[in-house]
Amino acid sequence: MSDLKSTVQLNNGILMPRFGLGVWKSSNTDAKNAVTTAIKHGYTLIDTAKQYGNETGVGQGIKEGLAETGMNRKDLFVTTKLFNGNQGYESTLRAFDGQLKRLGLHYIDLYLIHWPVDDKFIDTYKAMEKLYHEGKIRALGISNFDNERLAELLEHTDVVPAVNQMEFNPTNQEKDILAQANLEGIQLEAWSPLGGGDSLSDPTVLSLAEKYGKTAAQIILRWEYQRDLVIIPKSIHEQRIVENSQIFDFEITSDDVAKLNALDKSKRGLWYDDFKWHNPDGPWGDSVDKWDDSPANYAD
Ligand SMILES: NC(=O)c1ccc[n+]([C@@H]2O[C@H](COP(=O)([O-])OP(=O)(O)OC[C@H]3O[C@@H](n4cnc5c(N)ncnc54)[C@H](OP(=O)(O)O)[C@@H]3O)[C@@H](O)[C@H]2O)c1
Repeated sequence: MSDLKSTVQLNNGILMPRFGLGVWKSSNTDAKNAVTTAIKHGYTLIDTAKQYGNETGVGQGIKEGLAETGMNRKDLFVTTKLFNGNQGYESTLRAFDGQLKRLGLHYIDLYLIHWPVDDKFIDTYKAMEKLYHEGKIRALGISNFDNERLAELLEHTDVVPAVNQMEFNPTNQEKDILAQANLEGIQLEAWSPLGGGDSLSDPTVLSLAEKYGKTAAQIILRWEYQRDLVIIPKSIHEQRIVENSQIFDFEITSDDVAKLNALDKSKRGLWYDDFKWHNPDGPWGDSVDKWDDSPANYAD
């Protein structure tokens, strides 16, 4: 029987929770409260990034959540991501130290390259391999890598990434990337699993919600769970944090899974192909999400 504690074994043998909390677009205060609340309600996977500017709040939320529940650090699985502007060998090592300090942690469970900055992501990943071999990271991963960039990475590095975190929701199902990840033994993790909220008003989703007596969010998340993805819906509201996690007491039939699969339009967020994300020269300044605009949130 699956539940909120269900895990998947990654390609290096470690277990990763299948369900967690995202904190993009959350201030430090909101992130702290959401993380504490989520841990209190049984979440064990937390997903942040330097780019979100809320690692300090996430770290405080982890500390409070552990204190409130009596859980230990090892009971949690914390993911953060290397910021584009820090790509490169030495700068990755420096940035990682800063991230550990902000989070108040001694190690990271999963460390991702946030975006594949061309000409830099190989050196970046080599620095991450060093940190992995030193035991400061339990699993290495990537995010927003298409199959061409994944092939380049695999050709020039030693540790096969354990996870590729990609946008995945009813209108963007990344068929080719999912197929390649399965071939390479890489777990796909869905970001924006609710389409950033947009998928919640889809008529097919709403009709299935009525049929199963569940909310639209629960239908989408349960479908993604049945599609074997790791999912990290974001909410800063306790009621939704709880609602999103209640997807383990029902099953969507294969016919209805097929209806949701048919919503795919292979439509990534427009910003994906915007040159700045992959461009080694940036500009990075306007790609920082300053939800909480203190320089300390972004320093090395
Ligand atoms: N690797 C990457 O490049 C990347 C990119 C984007 C996101 N991510 C990660 O993936 C996580 C999730 O993606 P996301 O934040 O873009 O979008 P999402 O989880 O698909 O959707 C979040 C939005 O839906 C709302 N929401 C959540 N649960 C709801 C519910 N039950 N009913 C109604 N509304 C609900 C949230 O509002 P409230 O907060 O107000 O409840 C928020 O506006 C991020 O937080 C981040 O950790 C990674």
